[in-house]
Amino acid sequence: MKALIVCFGIAVISSYATSEAQSQVAPHKEEIFVIADLLGVPLSDKTLGHFLEFTERENRVYETVEEVKFRFRVFRANMIKATYLNETEQGTATYGATMFADMTRSEFQRHLGLVMPKTPPVKEAKPAVIPQIILPAEYDWRTFNVVTPVKNQGQCGSCWAFSVTGNIEGLYAIANNKLLSFSEQELVDCDKLDNGCGGGFFNTAFEAIEKLGGLETEDDYPYEGRNDQCTLNKSEIRVSVRDYVNITTDETEIAKYLVGNGPISIGINANAMQFYMGGVSHPLKFLCDPMNLDHGVLIVGYGVHRTRFTHKLLPYWLIKNSWGHRWGNKGYYMAYRGDGTCGLNRAATSAILS
Ligand SMILES: *[C@@H]1O[C@H](CO)[C@@H](O)[C@H](O)[C@H]1NC(C)=O
Ligand SMILES: *[C@@H]1O[C@H](CO)[C@@H](O)[C@H](O)[C@H]1NC(C)=O
Ligand SMILES: *[C@@H]1O[C@H](CO)[C@@H](O)[C@H](O)[C@H]1NC(C)=O
Repeated sequence: MKALIVCFGIAVISSYATSEAQSQVAPHKEEIFVIADLLGVPLSDKTLGHFLEFTERENRVYETVEEVKFRFRVFRANMIKATYLNETEQGTATYGATMFADMTRSEFQRHLGLVMPKTPPVKEAKPAVIPQIILPAEYDWRTFNVVTPVKNQGQCGSCWAFSVTGNIEGLYAIANNKLLSFSEQELVDCDKLDNGCGGGFFNTAFEAIEKLGGLETEDDYPYEGRNDQCTLNKSEIRVSVRDYVNITTDETEIAKYLVGNGPISIGINANAMQFYMGGVSHPLKFLCDPMNLDHGVLIVGYGVHRTRFTHKLLPYWLIKNSWGHRWGNKGYYMAYRGDGTCGLNRAATSAILS
């Protein structure tokens, strides 16, 4: 009754054999035969090889035969999307089997979490005052030590909290010459204007931080990646917010605000990000609808990339994400700058610290 096959990290456990041995590694070649047979695809199927590589790299464990079949179908459909993104890419980005490659759209959605509030926040955001400065050709706030290492929101729609702490960390470090990491979990648990792992938005989060009195540090209120009781300790608050501003949709002005003030919270459509492997991302508009912002991230800089052979100039934003450092470009996304790519210019927002 032994029906456990461990192949490249895919554990296929048939439903009647749950108490059997946990790991039996069959010879390499046989595994491929077994899996190909199980999935009903020829050994020459290219996607099969990619799928096995992917499951090994990501240590995927699928518990039933049905699950393996289902994940392979999802993977294949996703690789068709990624190939299409590759073929129609207007920048230099490539798309492929990221850690989200076997996830359906709705499963991937759990790693996002930007939700526009149904009722408007208590207060309208004031328009930002844009500093009248001459922009340098490139800028990167990381070189000023005001950006914390890339964090990971996990399977919790708390992107909005990470975007907001990133903005506040930057402003705090610039003002105080000291980089502190602030607590997303405090927002997930205590911000009642937003919906924890169910999603949130910047304006409401800043509003909530004003009400709560401020943020604790990451160490004092560590991340759990799930909704929990609020355990805010007011005597551990290290930073407070007095107001927030709505930055324009003009990307030159966004750059001026960035250089003059610090990293900026932005909304974006994350459709292409599910499969992003690196490069300057510039998908066709209909592949990442600018009117449908579903993810909150942080602009920390910008630059211009010169393509290798054609010497085409590609202006880009340097965007800190919250999916860990294994995703994208060491956790960062580079998106084309200047035409509202994936709606990234539509919800630029920043706190004003007390
Ligand atoms: C997209 O192109 C890159 C670079 O050529 C390649 O590594 C990747 O596998 C391609 N993606 C797919 C899904 O074929
Ligand atoms: C709140 O934080 C202060 C300072 O770290 C500590 O002394 C106090 O015990 C904490 N209170 C609670 C209820 O944990
Ligand atoms: C910013 O202000 C504009 C114009 O008042 C408004 O349409 C937009 O919804 C505001 N955006 C945010 C994120 O508050």
